[in-house]
Amino acid sequence: MKKKIFIETYGCQMNVYDSELVKTILAEKEYLLVPEESMANIVMLNTCTVRENADRKVLNRVHQIKNSRHQKETILVGILGCMATNFKTKLLEDPKLKIDFIAGPDSYKQLPQLIENAWEHGDKSFDVTLSEFETYSDITPTRKDGINAWLAIMRGCNNFCTFCVVPYTRGRERSRDPYNIVQEIKHLVSEGFSQVTLLGQNVNSYQYDGIDFTDLMRMISDIDGVKRIRYTSPHPKDFPEKLLQLMSEKPAICKQLHMPLQAGNSRVLDKMNRTYTKEEFLALIDLTRHYMPTANISTDIIVGFPTETDQEFEDTIDVIKKVEFDSAFIFKYSERPNTRAAKKFPDDVSEEVKTKRIMRLNDIQNEISLRKKNTQIGQTQTVLVEALYTKRSTDDIQTRNDANQIVILPKVDPPFDINIGDYINVKITGATRNSLKAMFISV
Ligand code: SAH
Ligand code: SF4
Ligand code: F3S
Repeated sequence: MKKKIFIETYGCQMNVYDSELVKTILAEKEYLLVPEESMANIVMLNTCTVRENADRKVLNRVHQIKNSRHQKETILVGILGCMATNFKTKLLEDPKLKIDFIAGPDSYKQLPQLIENAWEHGDKSFDVTLSEFETYSDITPTRKDGINAWLAIMRGCNNFCTFCVVPYTRGRERSRDPYNIVQEIKHLVSEGFSQVTLLGQNVNSYQYDGIDFTDLMRMISDIDGVKRIRYTSPHPKDFPEKLLQLMSEKPAICKQLHMPLQAGNSRVLDKMNRTYTKEEFLALIDLTRHYMPTANISTDIIVGFPTETDQEFEDTIDVIKKVEFDSAFIFKYSERPNTRAAKKFPDDVSEEVKTKRIMRLNDIQNEISLRKKNTQIGQTQTVLVEALYTKRSTDDIQTRNDANQIVILPKVDPPFDINIGDYINVKITGATRNSLKAMFISV
Protein backbone atom coordinates (compact mmCIF):
# COMPACT_ATOMS: atom_id res chain seq x y z
CA MET A 1 0.00 0.00 0.00
CA LYS A 2 1.33 3.45 -0.89
CA LYS A 3 1.37 5.81 2.03
CA LYS A 4 -0.88 8.76 1.40
CA ILE A 5 0.69 12.07 2.32
CA PHE A 6 -0.77 15.51 2.88
CA ILE A 7 1.27 18.64 3.74
CA GLU A 8 -0.28 21.74 5.26
CA THR A 9 1.89 24.87 5.21
CA TYR A 10 2.06 27.78 7.66
CA GLY A 11 4.31 30.86 7.87
CA CYS A 12 6.42 32.57 5.28
CA GLN A 13 7.11 31.93 1.61
CA MET A 14 10.22 29.92 2.49
CA ASN A 15 7.96 27.34 4.09
CA VAL A 16 5.76 27.22 1.00
CA TYR A 17 8.92 26.62 -1.02
CA ASP A 18 10.17 23.98 1.41
CA SER A 19 6.87 22.10 1.22
CA GLU A 20 7.41 21.86 -2.53
CA LEU A 21 10.90 20.46 -1.87
CA VAL A 22 9.44 17.90 0.54
CA LYS A 23 6.92 16.86 -2.10
CA THR A 24 9.77 16.18 -4.54
CA ILE A 25 11.73 14.24 -1.91
CA LEU A 26 8.72 12.07 -1.08
CA ALA A 27 7.44 11.64 -4.62
CA GLU A 28 10.76 10.05 -5.45
CA LYS A 29 10.14 7.48 -2.75
CA GLU A 30 6.78 6.59 -4.20
CA TYR A 31 4.56 8.12 -1.63
CA LEU A 32 1.22 9.28 -2.93
CA LEU A 33 0.48 12.97 -2.43
CA VAL A 34 -3.24 13.47 -1.83
CA PRO A 35 -5.13 16.77 -2.16
CA GLU A 36 -7.01 16.66 1.16
CA GLU A 37 -6.10 15.97 4.75
CA SER A 38 -9.04 13.59 5.15
CA MET A 39 -7.64 11.30 2.42
CA ALA A 40 -4.17 11.04 3.96
CA ASN A 41 -2.75 8.63 6.48
CA ILE A 42 0.34 10.73 7.03
CA VAL A 43 -0.30 14.42 7.70
CA MET A 44 2.59 16.85 7.96
CA LEU A 45 2.31 20.40 9.20
CA ASN A 46 5.10 22.66 7.97
CA THR A 47 5.10 25.16 10.80
CA CYS A 48 6.00 28.72 11.75
CA THR A 49 6.95 29.91 15.23
CA VAL A 50 7.70 33.59 14.62
CA ARG A 51 4.93 34.79 16.98
CA GLU A 52 3.03 33.00 19.72
CA ASN A 53 -0.21 32.91 17.77
CA ALA A 54 1.58 30.98 14.99
CA ASP A 55 2.36 28.20 17.51
CA ARG A 56 -1.16 28.21 18.85
CA LYS A 57 -2.68 27.79 15.40
CA VAL A 58 -0.61 24.66 14.74
CA LEU A 59 -1.20 23.07 18.14
CA ASN A 60 -4.97 23.54 17.76
CA ARG A 61 -4.78 21.98 14.34
CA VAL A 62 -2.90 18.93 15.64
CA HIS A 63 -5.63 18.34 18.25
CA GLN A 64 -8.29 18.75 15.61
CA ILE A 65 -6.69 16.23 13.25
CA LYS A 66 -6.05 13.68 15.98
CA ASN A 67 -9.53 14.02 17.50
CA SER A 68 -11.39 13.77 14.25
CA ARG A 69 -9.50 10.82 12.85
CA HIS A 70 -7.48 8.89 15.30
CA GLN A 71 -9.83 6.37 16.86
CA LYS A 72 -10.64 4.40 13.72
CA GLU A 73 -7.57 4.58 11.49
CA THR A 74 -3.82 4.68 11.52
CA ILE A 75 -2.71 8.19 11.01
CA LEU A 76 0.67 9.72 11.63
CA VAL A 77 1.12 13.40 12.31
CA GLY A 78 4.51 15.01 11.71
CA ILE A 79 5.74 18.49 12.50
CA LEU A 80 8.14 20.08 10.01
CA GLY A 81 9.63 23.57 9.86
CA CYS A 82 10.41 26.17 12.46
CA MET A 83 8.44 24.77 15.42
CA ALA A 84 10.38 21.54 15.05
CA THR A 85 13.75 23.24 15.61
CA ASN A 86 12.38 25.66 18.20
CA PHE A 87 10.71 23.09 20.47
CA LYS A 88 12.59 19.95 19.42
CA THR A 89 11.68 16.77 21.28
CA LYS A 90 9.38 18.69 23.66
CA LEU A 91 6.80 18.30 20.91
CA LEU A 92 7.18 14.51 20.88
CA GLU A 93 7.15 14.24 24.65
CA ASP A 94 3.84 16.05 25.09
CA PRO A 95 1.38 13.19 25.76
CA LYS A 96 -1.61 15.27 24.74
CA LEU A 97 -0.23 16.09 21.30
CA LYS A 98 0.66 12.55 20.19
CA ILE A 99 2.99 13.76 17.43
CA ASP A 100 4.75 10.89 15.63
CA PHE A 101 7.78 12.49 14.01
CA ILE A 102 9.47 15.86 13.64
CA ALA A 103 11.90 17.23 11.06
CA GLY A 104 13.59 20.63 11.05
CA PRO A 105 14.17 22.75 7.91
CA ASP A 106 17.58 21.17 7.18
CA SER A 107 16.45 17.56 7.67
CA TYR A 108 13.96 17.01 4.87
CA LYS A 109 16.18 14.51 3.08
CA GLN A 110 15.82 12.31 6.18
CA LEU A 111 12.02 12.35 5.98
CA PRO A 112 11.57 8.98 4.21
CA GLN A 113 13.60 7.35 6.99
CA LEU A 114 11.81 9.22 9.78
CA ILE A 115 8.41 8.30 8.38
CA GLU A 116 9.47 4.69 7.92
CA ASN A 117 10.63 4.44 11.56
CA ALA A 118 7.36 5.86 12.80
CA TRP A 119 5.21 3.80 10.46
CA GLU A 120 6.93 0.42 10.72
CA HIS A 121 8.14 0.49 14.30
CA GLY A 122 6.01 3.12 16.02
CA ASP A 123 9.18 5.01 16.93
CA LYS A 124 8.87 8.66 17.75
CA SER A 125 11.52 9.76 15.30
CA PHE A 126 13.12 13.15 14.91
CA ASP A 127 15.87 15.08 13.18
CA VAL A 128 16.23 18.75 14.02
CA THR A 129 19.90 19.15 13.22
CA LEU A 130 20.76 22.46 11.60
CA SER A 131 23.31 22.33 8.82
CA GLU A 132 25.91 24.85 7.74
CA PHE A 133 25.77 23.56 4.18
CA GLU A 134 22.33 22.25 3.21
CA THR A 135 20.86 24.39 0.41
CA TYR A 136 18.82 21.66 -1.34
CA SER A 137 20.42 22.83 -4.59
CA ASP A 138 20.17 19.26 -5.93
CA ILE A 139 16.39 19.13 -5.51
CA THR A 140 13.90 20.79 -7.83
CA PRO A 141 10.71 21.74 -6.00
CA THR A 142 7.36 20.49 -7.30
CA ARG A 143 6.15 23.86 -8.60
CA LYS A 144 2.51 24.16 -9.43
CA ASP A 145 2.08 27.86 -10.09
CA GLY A 146 3.23 28.10 -13.72
CA ILE A 147 3.81 31.88 -13.76
CA ASN A 148 6.01 32.86 -10.87
CA ALA A 149 8.81 30.58 -9.76
CA TRP A 150 10.00 30.92 -6.18
CA LEU A 151 13.65 30.09 -5.76
CA ALA A 152 15.61 29.96 -2.50
CA ILE A 153 19.09 31.41 -3.09
CA MET A 154 20.19 31.38 0.54
CA ARG A 155 18.95 29.95 3.82
CA GLY A 156 19.36 30.87 7.47
CA CYS A 157 20.13 34.15 9.20
CA ASN A 158 23.11 35.50 11.12
CA ASN A 159 21.59 38.81 12.18
CA PHE A 160 20.16 37.88 15.56
CA CYS A 161 17.66 40.70 15.87
CA THR A 162 16.92 40.34 19.56
CA PHE A 163 13.17 39.70 19.12
CA CYS A 164 13.51 37.07 16.41
CA VAL A 165 13.54 33.31 16.62
CA VAL A 166 14.50 32.68 12.98
CA PRO A 167 18.30 32.41 13.50
CA TYR A 168 17.56 29.62 16.02
CA THR A 169 15.01 27.79 13.88
CA ARG A 170 16.80 28.13 10.56
CA GLY A 171 20.45 28.20 11.56
CA ARG A 172 23.37 29.93 9.94
CA GLU A 173 23.43 31.72 6.62
CA ARG A 174 24.53 29.74 3.60
CA SER A 175 24.19 30.61 -0.08
CA ARG A 176 23.61 28.50 -3.11
CA ASP A 177 26.04 28.28 -6.04
CA PRO A 178 25.18 31.13 -8.49
CA TYR A 179 25.82 29.03 -11.59
CA ASN A 180 23.43 26.41 -10.28
CA ILE A 181 20.83 29.18 -9.68
CA VAL A 182 21.27 30.54 -13.23
CA GLN A 183 20.93 27.02 -14.68
CA GLU A 184 17.68 26.47 -12.79
CA ILE A 185 16.27 29.81 -13.95
CA LYS A 186 17.14 29.06 -17.58
CA HIS A 187 15.31 25.79 -17.22
CA LEU A 188 12.32 27.57 -15.66
CA VAL A 189 12.19 30.00 -18.58
CA SER A 190 12.13 27.05 -20.98
CA GLU A 191 9.14 25.72 -19.04
CA GLY A 192 7.26 29.00 -19.48
CA PHE A 193 7.95 30.84 -16.21
CA SER A 194 8.76 34.50 -16.85
CA GLN A 195 8.79 35.82 -13.27
CA VAL A 196 11.18 34.66 -10.60
CA THR A 197 11.13 35.61 -6.92
CA LEU A 198 14.38 35.00 -5.07
CA LEU A 199 13.92 33.87 -1.51
CA GLY A 200 16.01 33.92 1.63
CA GLN A 201 15.53 34.71 5.31
CA ASN A 202 17.97 37.49 4.65
CA VAL A 203 18.11 37.39 0.91
CA ASN A 204 20.44 40.33 0.22
CA SER A 205 23.16 38.90 2.48
CA TYR A 206 23.76 36.40 -0.34
CA GLN A 207 27.47 35.66 -0.67
CA TYR A 208 29.14 32.85 -2.61
CA ASP A 209 32.85 32.78 -3.47
CA GLY A 210 33.07 36.56 -3.80
CA ILE A 211 29.77 36.86 -5.68
CA ASP A 212 27.39 39.09 -3.75
CA PHE A 213 23.68 39.78 -4.11
CA THR A 214 24.16 42.61 -6.63
CA ASP A 215 26.38 40.36 -8.80
CA LEU A 216 23.80 37.60 -8.66
CA MET A 217 20.97 39.99 -9.57
CA ARG A 218 22.99 41.17 -12.56
CA MET A 219 23.59 37.59 -13.70
CA ILE A 220 19.88 36.78 -13.42
CA SER A 221 18.68 39.95 -15.11
CA ASP A 222 20.85 39.06 -18.11
CA ILE A 223 19.07 35.75 -18.68
CA ASP A 224 16.90 35.83 -21.83
CA GLY A 225 13.21 35.43 -21.16
CA VAL A 226 13.16 36.54 -17.52
CA LYS A 227 10.73 39.44 -17.52
CA ARG A 228 10.26 40.09 -13.82
CA ILE A 229 12.65 39.55 -10.93
CA ARG A 230 11.65 40.10 -7.29
CA TYR A 231 13.24 39.14 -3.99
CA THR A 232 12.20 38.77 -0.36
CA SER A 233 13.01 39.33 2.50
CA PRO A 234 15.91 41.75 2.56
CA HIS A 235 17.50 43.57 5.49
CA PRO A 236 18.15 47.35 5.30
CA LYS A 237 21.80 46.82 6.28
CA ASP A 238 22.55 45.11 2.97
CA PHE A 239 21.40 47.74 0.44
CA PRO A 240 24.58 49.05 -1.14
CA GLU A 241 24.14 51.90 -3.62
CA LYS A 242 25.29 49.63 -6.47
CA LEU A 243 22.28 47.36 -5.85
CA LEU A 244 19.84 50.28 -6.03
CA GLN A 245 21.56 51.52 -9.17
CA LEU A 246 21.37 48.09 -10.80
CA MET A 247 17.68 47.83 -9.91
CA SER A 248 17.04 51.17 -11.56
CA GLU A 249 18.92 50.21 -14.74
CA LYS A 250 17.51 46.75 -15.42
CA PRO A 251 13.94 46.72 -16.76
CA ALA A 252 13.49 43.10 -15.65
CA ILE A 253 14.08 43.92 -11.97
CA CYS A 254 10.80 45.04 -10.45
CA LYS A 255 10.84 48.49 -8.86
CA GLN A 256 9.52 47.02 -5.65
CA LEU A 257 11.30 46.61 -2.33
CA HIS A 258 10.55 45.37 1.13
CA MET A 259 12.41 47.50 3.70
CA PRO A 260 11.60 46.15 7.17
CA LEU A 261 11.75 49.13 9.54
CA GLN A 262 10.67 47.31 12.77
CA ALA A 263 10.72 50.55 14.81
CA GLY A 264 11.28 54.25 14.19
CA ASN A 265 13.17 55.09 17.36
CA SER A 266 16.96 54.71 17.37
CA ARG A 267 17.21 53.55 20.99
CA VAL A 268 14.62 50.82 20.35
CA LEU A 269 16.33 49.88 17.08
CA ASP A 270 19.59 49.49 18.95
CA LYS A 271 17.93 47.27 21.57
CA MET A 272 16.51 45.23 18.70
CA ASN A 273 20.05 44.89 17.25
CA ARG A 274 18.89 46.19 13.88
CA THR A 275 22.23 47.98 13.28
CA TYR A 276 20.74 51.18 11.79
CA THR A 277 19.30 54.37 13.25
CA LYS A 278 16.12 56.23 12.34
CA GLU A 279 18.19 58.73 10.34
CA GLU A 280 20.10 56.01 8.48
CA PHE A 281 16.86 54.29 7.55
CA LEU A 282 15.38 57.56 6.24
CA ALA A 283 18.58 58.20 4.27
CA LEU A 284 18.31 54.74 2.69
CA ILE A 285 14.75 55.48 1.60
CA ASP A 286 15.90 58.79 0.09
CA LEU A 287 18.67 57.03 -1.81
CA THR A 288 16.24 54.37 -3.03
CA ARG A 289 13.87 57.05 -4.31
CA HIS A 290 16.76 58.91 -5.91
CA TYR A 291 17.38 55.87 -8.11
CA MET A 292 13.75 54.70 -8.38
CA PRO A 293 11.41 57.64 -7.74
CA THR A 294 8.24 55.57 -8.10
CA ALA A 295 9.45 52.38 -6.35
CA ASN A 296 6.83 50.54 -4.36
CA ILE A 297 8.18 50.16 -0.82
CA SER A 298 6.64 47.94 1.85
CA THR A 299 7.73 47.35 5.43
CA ASP A 300 7.34 45.34 8.64
CA ILE A 301 6.83 47.02 12.01
CA ILE A 302 6.71 45.68 15.56
CA VAL A 303 4.84 47.71 18.20
CA GLY A 304 5.41 47.33 21.94
CA PHE A 305 8.97 46.00 21.94
CA PRO A 306 10.14 45.85 25.59
CA THR A 307 10.65 49.32 27.13
CA GLU A 308 9.23 51.18 24.09
CA THR A 309 7.65 54.36 25.50
CA ASP A 310 4.73 56.35 24.06
CA GLN A 311 7.19 59.04 23.06
CA GLU A 312 9.45 56.54 21.27
CA PHE A 313 6.46 55.05 19.49
CA GLU A 314 5.81 58.55 18.06
CA ASP A 315 9.10 58.12 16.13
CA THR A 316 7.61 55.09 14.35
CA ILE A 317 4.62 57.23 13.38
CA ASP A 318 6.98 59.97 12.25
CA VAL A 319 8.86 57.53 9.98
CA ILE A 320 5.74 56.04 8.39
CA LYS A 321 4.41 59.55 7.71
CA LYS A 322 7.72 60.70 6.23
CA VAL A 323 8.38 57.60 4.14
CA GLU A 324 4.79 56.92 3.07
CA PHE A 325 5.24 53.18 2.60
CA ASP A 326 2.94 51.63 0.04
CA SER A 327 2.01 48.95 2.53
CA ALA A 328 3.04 47.71 5.96
CA PHE A 329 2.73 44.52 7.97
CA ILE A 330 2.35 45.60 11.58
CA PHE A 331 2.72 43.17 14.50
CA LYS A 332 2.44 43.32 18.27
CA TYR A 333 5.68 42.22 19.93
CA SER A 334 5.46 38.58 20.92
CA GLU A 335 8.11 37.18 23.25
CA ARG A 336 9.78 34.11 21.74
CA PRO A 337 11.61 31.48 23.76
CA ASN A 338 15.40 31.37 23.25
CA THR A 339 15.71 34.86 21.79
CA ARG A 340 18.00 37.47 23.33
CA ALA A 341 15.05 39.75 24.08
CA ALA A 342 13.26 36.95 25.96
CA LYS A 343 16.37 36.38 28.07
CA LYS A 344 17.24 40.02 28.72
CA PHE A 345 14.16 42.24 28.43
CA PRO A 346 10.87 41.54 30.23
CA ASP A 347 7.82 41.89 27.94
CA ASP A 348 6.74 45.02 29.80
CA VAL A 349 4.45 46.84 27.37
CA SER A 350 0.88 45.88 28.25
CA GLU A 351 -1.43 44.15 25.79
CA GLU A 352 -3.71 47.16 26.01
CA VAL A 353 -0.96 49.57 24.97
CA LYS A 354 0.17 47.26 22.17
CA THR A 355 -3.41 47.14 20.88
CA LYS A 356 -3.74 50.94 21.00
CA ARG A 357 -0.46 51.36 19.11
CA ILE A 358 -1.22 48.79 16.42
CA MET A 359 -4.68 50.28 15.80
CA ARG A 360 -3.28 53.77 15.50
CA LEU A 361 -0.53 52.71 13.10
CA ASN A 362 -2.92 50.66 10.99
CA ASP A 363 -5.28 53.64 10.67
CA ILE A 364 -2.50 55.96 9.55
CA GLN A 365 -0.97 53.41 7.19
CA ASN A 366 -4.31 52.41 5.62
CA GLU A 367 -4.97 56.02 4.77
CA ILE A 368 -1.48 56.38 3.21
CA SER A 369 -1.79 53.09 1.30
CA LEU A 370 -5.11 54.08 -0.24
CA ARG A 371 -3.95 57.60 -1.05
CA LYS A 372 -0.87 56.22 -2.82
CA LYS A 373 -2.96 53.73 -4.76
CA ASN A 374 -5.28 56.56 -5.85
CA THR A 375 -2.37 58.47 -7.37
CA GLN A 376 -2.02 55.63 -9.90
CA ILE A 377 -5.47 56.25 -11.36
CA GLY A 378 -5.12 57.20 -15.01
CA GLN A 379 -1.72 55.51 -15.42
CA THR A 380 -1.02 52.95 -18.11
CA GLN A 381 0.66 49.86 -16.68
CA THR A 382 1.87 46.51 -17.95
CA VAL A 383 0.40 43.71 -15.89
CA LEU A 384 0.91 39.96 -15.75
CA VAL A 385 -2.23 37.83 -16.07
CA GLU A 386 -2.50 35.47 -13.07
CA ALA A 387 -6.03 34.10 -13.30
CA LEU A 388 -8.96 34.36 -15.71
CA TYR A 389 -11.33 34.93 -12.78
CA THR A 390 -11.10 36.40 -9.26
CA LYS A 391 -12.22 35.15 -5.86
CA ARG A 392 -15.32 37.28 -6.22
CA SER A 393 -16.25 37.07 -9.90
CA THR A 394 -15.87 34.96 -13.01
CA ASP A 395 -16.38 38.11 -15.09
CA ASP A 396 -13.08 39.61 -13.96
CA ILE A 397 -9.42 38.83 -14.62
CA GLN A 398 -6.74 38.96 -11.92
CA THR A 399 -3.39 40.43 -12.85
CA ARG A 400 -0.35 41.87 -11.05
CA ASN A 401 1.65 45.01 -11.77
CA ASP A 402 5.38 45.59 -11.48
CA ALA A 403 4.83 46.95 -7.94
CA ASN A 404 3.39 43.55 -6.93
CA GLN A 405 -0.13 44.94 -6.50
CA ILE A 406 -3.19 43.02 -7.62
CA VAL A 407 -4.96 44.67 -10.56
CA ILE A 408 -8.48 43.51 -11.42
CA LEU A 409 -10.07 44.15 -14.78
CA PRO A 410 -13.34 43.12 -16.36
CA LYS A 411 -13.23 40.65 -19.22
CA VAL A 412 -13.75 42.66 -22.40
CA ASP A 413 -16.53 42.06 -24.85
CA PRO A 414 -16.02 40.53 -27.36
CA PRO A 415 -13.46 38.34 -25.57
CA PHE A 416 -9.94 38.36 -26.96
CA ASP A 417 -7.36 35.69 -26.79
CA ILE A 418 -5.77 36.14 -23.39
CA ASN A 419 -3.94 33.55 -21.35
CA ILE A 420 -2.47 33.10 -17.91
CA GLY A 421 1.13 34.28 -18.05
CA ASP A 422 0.48 36.99 -20.70
CA TYR A 423 1.65 40.55 -20.18
CA ILE A 424 -1.01 43.10 -21.19
CA ASN A 425 -1.37 46.88 -21.04
CA VAL A 426 -4.12 48.34 -18.91
CA LYS A 427 -5.29 51.72 -17.68
CA ILE A 428 -5.83 52.07 -13.91
CA THR A 429 -9.38 53.26 -13.21
CA GLY A 430 -9.82 52.84 -9.47
CA ALA A 431 -8.33 51.71 -6.17
CA THR A 432 -9.49 49.85 -3.09
CA ARG A 433 -7.54 48.82 0.01
CA ASN A 434 -6.57 45.43 -1.43
CA SER A 435 -6.36 46.00 -5.16
CA LEU A 436 -6.42 48.31 -8.14
CA LYS A 437 -9.14 48.33 -10.81
CA ALA A 438 -8.27 48.71 -14.48
CA MET A 439 -9.50 48.48 -18.04
CA PHE A 440 -7.87 46.64 -20.89
CA ILE A 441 -5.93 48.62 -23.50
CA SER A 442 -3.80 46.22 -25.56
CA VAL A 443 -1.80 43.03 -25.54
N1 SAH B 1 13.56 37.38 7.45
C1 SAH B 1 12.59 38.34 7.56
C2 SAH B 1 11.75 38.28 8.76
C3 SAH B 1 11.02 37.10 9.05
S1 SAH B 1 9.88 37.38 10.30
C4 SAH B 1 13.18 39.68 7.65
O1 SAH B 1 14.22 39.85 8.27
O2 SAH B 1 12.54 40.61 7.17
C5 SAH B 1 8.78 38.55 9.52
C6 SAH B 1 8.46 39.69 10.41
O3 SAH B 1 7.88 39.21 11.61
C7 SAH B 1 9.64 40.52 10.89
O4 SAH B 1 10.05 41.45 9.95
C8 SAH B 1 9.09 41.16 12.13
O5 SAH B 1 8.44 42.37 11.84
C9 SAH B 1 8.06 40.15 12.62
N2 SAH B 1 8.51 39.49 13.84
C10 SAH B 1 9.59 38.70 14.01
N3 SAH B 1 9.71 38.32 15.30
C11 SAH B 1 8.68 38.88 15.97
C12 SAH B 1 8.26 38.87 17.33
N4 SAH B 1 8.95 38.23 18.25
N5 SAH B 1 7.13 39.56 17.65
C13 SAH B 1 6.44 40.23 16.70
N6 SAH B 1 6.79 40.27 15.41
C14 SAH B 1 7.91 39.62 15.04
FE1 SF4 C 1 14.84 37.64 12.12
FE2 SF4 C 1 16.32 39.80 11.95
FE3 SF4 C 1 17.09 37.54 10.74
FE4 SF4 C 1 14.98 38.89 9.81
S1 SF4 C 1 17.10 39.64 9.87
S2 SF4 C 1 15.12 36.68 10.12
S3 SF4 C 1 14.07 39.71 11.67
S4 SF4 C 1 16.93 37.87 12.93
FE1 F3S D 1 7.92 31.51 10.42
FE2 F3S D 1 10.11 30.15 10.15
FE3 F3S D 1 9.25 31.66 8.18
S1 F3S D 1 9.42 31.13 12.00
S2 F3S D 1 8.26 33.34 9.28
S3 F3S D 1 8.25 29.90 8.97
S4 F3S D 1 11.36 31.36 8.80
